[in-house]
Amino acid sequence: MSDNTIDSNYLQNQAKAELHLHIEGSLEPEMLLNLARRNNVTLKYRDINEIRAAYAFNNLQEFLDIYYQGMSVLITEDDFYDLMFAYLTKAHQDKITHSEIFVDPQAHLSRGISLDVVFAGFKRAMEQAKQEYRLDSYLIPCFLRHLSEDDALRTFDVLMDYRKDFIGIGLDSSELGNPPRKFKNLFDRARKENLKLVAHAGEEGPAEYVWEALDILGVDRVDHGNAITTDKELMVRIAKDGIGLTMCPLSNQCLQVVPDLRNHQALQLMNAGVKVTVNSDDPAYFGGYLNKNYQALIDSLNLSKADLDKLIRNAFDVKFA
Ligand code: ADE
Ligand code: ZN
Repeated sequence: MSDNTIDSNYLQNQAKAELHLHIEGSLEPEMLLNLARRNNVTLKYRDINEIRAAYAFNNLQEFLDIYYQGMSVLITEDDFYDLMFAYLTKAHQDKITHSEIFVDPQAHLSRGISLDVVFAGFKRAMEQAKQEYRLDSYLIPCFLRHLSEDDALRTFDVLMDYRKDFIGIGLDSSELGNPPRKFKNLFDRARKENLKLVAHAGEEGPAEYVWEALDILGVDRVDHGNAITTDKELMVRIAKDGIGLTMCPLSNQCLQVVPDLRNHQALQLMNAGVKVTVNSDDPAYFGGYLNKNYQALIDSLNLSKADLDKLIRNAFDVKFA
């Protein structure tokens, strides 16, 4: 076997970091149904088959509409604990030893769920995973970019009561029409609190949004960044500054950002010196956890073992915690 062939156990056996995972996007259909029953929430689906059938997306917005509906079953501290511990168990099975996890506080506050409940459930699961799995995990609250900056700033004030429970802030939700510059004041405030900064940019949006994330928000990392390859100067800038990119192949395929993964930008960016990482985004909706995302890229881009080693190492190089 040549040095560049990837043995089937090799991927499984490497310790990995995951840096782009929305915890609400790890809500599996089975748990969705169980929590709906437990909390007397009426869903528009009767069974798993109807749920799976609904998970066919033509774009980001079609996914987000279903993703926000799914959260309606998350109500008690135990619900948040169960959700987090289920993800961390899957992560451990994929040999993840470090995970930085997004949560959408506005999506819970707007339903009347207190952040006491959210953080208490998550923290209990994260402490248990640290003990049982030796898995280090950290939270990064994201702000919903389809809402106003004022809403984000009010939420930021609420979040500051939980400052010790998270390491940074992010920006997610509907990208087109909601450019990073809309959240300049929010990111300025977060920087003053010594929080790490990250934003989804260049997923459906143009390279211009990635420039804004860098130059106006001052992000330390960029989520997705597929559009970067359309702008040579941007590619050079991202590489030169060592900005990590948290790419999510199966998400890109499901949301039609890159319908054919043979055209995925990961290898081109990595060959240009960009610190590309592989992540699962919303694995319950996009058909796979971290190792499946690596495998999809290996298969479609014909990655070498050296490429895989680099992708895995990059995630440890650009982690925040
Ligand atoms: N929220 C959850 N997943 C997301 C994604 N892929 N893009 C933007 N916002 C999200
Ligand atoms: Zn994401």
